[in-house]
Amino acid sequence: MKDFKYYAPTEVIFGKNSEEQIPALLKKHGATKVLVHFGGGSAERSGLLPLIRTLLTQAGIPFRELGGVVPNPHLSKVREGIALCKKEGLDFILAVGGGSVIDSAKAISYGLCYDGDVWDLFCGKAELKAAAPVACVLTIPAAGSEMSEGCVITNDEDGQFLKRSCGGDPARCRFAVMNPERTYTLPAYQTACGITDMMMHTMERYFSHDDDMTITDALAEALLRTVMDLGPRVIANPNDYRLRAQVMWAGSLAHNDITGCGTTGDWGTHDLEHELSGMFDVAHGAGLAAIWGSWARYVRHENLTRFVQFAVNVMGVPNDFKDPDGTALRGIAKMEEFYRSIGMPTGITELIGREITNEEILEMAHKASNGGTSTLGNFKVLHEVDMVAIYCMAAKSK
Ligand code: NZQ
Ligand code: ZN
Repeated sequence: MKDFKYYAPTEVIFGKNSEEQIPALLKKHGATKVLVHFGGGSAERSGLLPLIRTLLTQAGIPFRELGGVVPNPHLSKVREGIALCKKEGLDFILAVGGGSVIDSAKAISYGLCYDGDVWDLFCGKAELKAAAPVACVLTIPAAGSEMSEGCVITNDEDGQFLKRSCGGDPARCRFAVMNPERTYTLPAYQTACGITDMMMHTMERYFSHDDDMTITDALAEALLRTVMDLGPRVIANPNDYRLRAQVMWAGSLAHNDITGCGTTGDWGTHDLEHELSGMFDVAHGAGLAAIWGSWARYVRHENLTRFVQFAVNVMGVPNDFKDPDGTALRGIAKMEEFYRSIGMPTGITELIGREITNEEILEMAHKASNGGTSTLGNFKVLHEVDMVAIYCMAAKSK
């Protein structure tokens, strides 16, 4: 078990009517003038935004609004938010939505504390040192941004659509309001994308070379089995509070690092996927499902024992002691079978609705490796040539 720091300072307010606590939470965390940041309309239609407007007005908390955040959130919207906050003297950002809205809010908060171009922080030209305070009202359990130190933004300004992350402790939400009832309106596809993403956040941490991980493994395996049990049931029963609540909390636990203590983590699948969702504007969770099986088959021999453990403890595959590779492969196939059962794609063709070209694969690998100068992942360190190979496997995968 490696040395680690565990830091999850976000105050979580979970349950029915939790929104009513927003004004008190804002005051407690020092907000004087708030930017309410949201997406494309779901929070308006559900009545959540009107409720927040009423609550803030009644509490005498001044606020301005900025909507229009798109999935795979754009840098241009971040700039709009930074300019608005500066012009209006806003000192606290309340994100109302999912990972895209929260990440857009986080990026605005970075820009308010950084003198240069905010994109510098995402392309490695500068380090994140401070951020204005951010909090969220979560409407989709998926990205885990409500408790994570991460933030992912797509640069829509130069035609490249590079999707890059920038995180650290300053990025963490001061509080997260989570009412499972707010997720009833999620379409089945978005629910499935969320289930896939939270599983992948756990699996990225699980596939490592670290030993003595009994407690962390047990947490991770329980989370994965639980989410696989809940997933199909919540899709079939979208208005079931007990199911929605458990899935919602699982999404936060999957990415607040409780399943990563003492491990290095891999994150290769995530980084490969960010090129897909940046370039083809697909949902992040669906992109992960489309690529994971190919990644897993490509890297499994780096630590076959780990894949056998996953197959047996998570996927319920009988252990064939004479054929560990067969056991590992059956575990990977069963994971893909699960993805398909909840409507997720397990190959790039299904993901983007057409065959990907060789040029597009080369372009993605080139971008993911920063022009062949950097690697991805830890379970197996991936060079540009490996990235091309995995994308090619996923292109052929059904
Ligand atoms: O824009 P609106 O109208 O709100 O619609 C959204 C959006 O179209 C809709 N939606 C959200 N809540 C809803 C709802 N529809 C009906 N009812 C509700 N209650 O769902 C769509 C997807 O929303 P989005 O915020 O994009 O989803 P998600 O939470 O999956 O976030 C994905 C983004 O997070 C990044 C991803 O790369 C992607 O850009 N990630 C962020 C991470 C982090 N900050 O730690 C880690 C993740 O690995 C991930 O990379
Ligand atoms: Zn993710």
